[in-house]
Amino acid sequence: MDRKRFIMTIAASGAGAIVGSNLLGKSDFAASSALSGKWDTESWDQVRSLFRLRSNVTYLNTGGLGPASQPVLDRVFEQSQTQAQIGEHYHNLFAPTRETAAAFFGVKPNEIAFVRNASEGNSVISSGLSLKKGDEVVFESHAHPGGSFAWMNRQKRDGVKVKIFEPSSASSEENLQRLFDKVTKRTRVIQVSHITATTGLIFDISAIAAEARRRGIWFHVDGAQSAGMIPINLKELGCDSYATSGHKWLNGPIETGLVYIAAERNDEVTCSYVGAYSNDEYELPSTFTYVDSAVRHEYGTRNAASVVGLQTAFELQNQIGRQRIADHGASLAQLVLEGLSEVKGLEILSPVDLAMRSSILTFRVPGVDCLTVSRGLSEEHKFRTRVVTERGLNGVRASWHVYHQEADALRYAEAVRSVVASL
Ligand SMILES: Cc1ncc(COP(=O)(O)O)c(C=O)c1O
Repeated sequence: MDRKRFIMTIAASGAGAIVGSNLLGKSDFAASSALSGKWDTESWDQVRSLFRLRSNVTYLNTGGLGPASQPVLDRVFEQSQTQAQIGEHYHNLFAPTRETAAAFFGVKPNEIAFVRNASEGNSVISSGLSLKKGDEVVFESHAHPGGSFAWMNRQKRDGVKVKIFEPSSASSEENLQRLFDKVTKRTRVIQVSHITATTGLIFDISAIAAEARRRGIWFHVDGAQSAGMIPINLKELGCDSYATSGHKWLNGPIETGLVYIAAERNDEVTCSYVGAYSNDEYELPSTFTYVDSAVRHEYGTRNAASVVGLQTAFELQNQIGRQRIADHGASLAQLVLEGLSEVKGLEILSPVDLAMRSSILTFRVPGVDCLTVSRGLSEEHKFRTRVVTERGLNGVRASWHVYHQEADALRYAEAVRSVVASL
């Protein structure tokens, strides 16, 4: 059944009316705070109270997984319950969420496809671009496996050549230089993490985008660590594509994410997977056309409850204030940095330059296994950090977000000092 016939059938069966009435807010749950989108977020105490995080452990691994807030959980539950009562896919709820997401990233709704995680979004791009043996792709050595493996796979499968550059924590100019030193006439794709998972380094995306465009190279951004941590306008940044997770700094439901593809370049990304909803029309065995948007990368039955939960996550961030969130996290990281500046035998791996530093702060104790340090922080001081074993960095990473406050940052700095002194 093609798309138009499917919609007509839904309408004729009356399911459209049921789905539509819920969309208009006439469900049993319309009065709940999750749907009305009004939360008290004036103080950080109030924001913290929206999360169920246990109080006896300070969770500092939002860069790994950002727990969903209560309003998000409520929305997922309510939508799941509605569907259990009524049935239906509720795919019509994707459109309003897509609009919210598009406004959030400064793009058009038809430039966004919902995926399950950042890795899948990165794979949509890496598997979809038409590349031949010997074509080159350049990315940074600190890329997360969710960003790098997709290209390693193309290297293995198709002979595409992977080239990596070492990021510099010294300056954005140095990074630009190091990246473009790797670029040759065969370079077809550049990818960077918007913010690296290792040290929280922020790449200068607009500068890279301008140079990539000048050279006619596709520029993809792995935004797993940036969406929800800092405000983002993808049109201003100027990349061709961007992928992110909903379950990190956005605090959306687990297994949510999205990929953005600039509309004018959409046809350059072949679909690796298709199914109902990818197509505009078909007639077996002769006709198959894609829907004219990035939505073609969505296919088959999806969990509408997760998608609307993600919408609530966007709304909550908007309400708290996106610049306020970014400033809050960065200032807590700064507080820790200052608290650790005098600690002997400790090395800060995150950039010192404020333009490149984010809400992530990573340090190491040279000569001491990062696991020993993070275990000390966890067992003796109840801080959940993340070790950075990639590229032999031997670091300990802390992610500072909306549920933390100054007192947490000060306690953490004190705990690190105490652990280092005991080594
Ligand atoms: C930069 C980066 N890319 C990709 C990923 C993978 O994210 P996901 O598990 O949502 O696919 C991560 C996860 O930490 C990451 O930090």
